[in-house]
Amino acid sequence: MVEKQINAKILFCSLDELSEAEKKLVLKAKEATVNSYAPYSAFRVGAALQLENGQVVTGNNQENAAYPSGLCAERVTLFYANANWPDTPVITLAIAARGQSGFLKFPISPCGSCRQVLLESERRQKRPIRILLYGEEGITIISSVRDLLPLSFDETYLSSID
Ligand code: THU
Repeated sequence: MVEKQINAKILFCSLDELSEAEKKLVLKAKEATVNSYAPYSAFRVGAALQLENGQVVTGNNQENAAYPSGLCAERVTLFYANANWPDTPVITLAIAARGQSGFLKFPISPCGSCRQVLLESERRQKRPIRILLYGEEGITIISSVRDLLPLSFDETYLSSID
């Protein structure tokens, strides 16, 4: 048996330590929670991403009475960006979440399905997506989706079959 370690680089910092552009992006993610449609969970998630051309795209979670039909803020935002700017890389994605008593103290982390979708976009654009997770008590920074999803499934497996 062979044991291997998989390392993920994750940074923790305060809002003040971000660049002005990244602070603005976090603010946009927070603002995006306002239009979240979350009558079932009351958990409002906002996302804001910055494209290479400077365009900022925002989105939020959209729930449905048929629960699985809803979609997370990250995928709403990323799919919109990829649908409208398919050839423009996503540089940074900021995410913020709040419940009934305000923004969460500690950042949420994207769910497994969103990580898979983020990974596809990152591989497609051949450039890492920087992820900023906002919490009232601090920011978590992930420099590449690869650090969020080790041992991932991607298109190379599909082309590896006979
Ligand atoms: N949700 C997101 O939008 N993003 C995440 O990273 C985690 C969860 C949404 C899905 C659902 O509308 C609500 O939060 C509760 O799970």
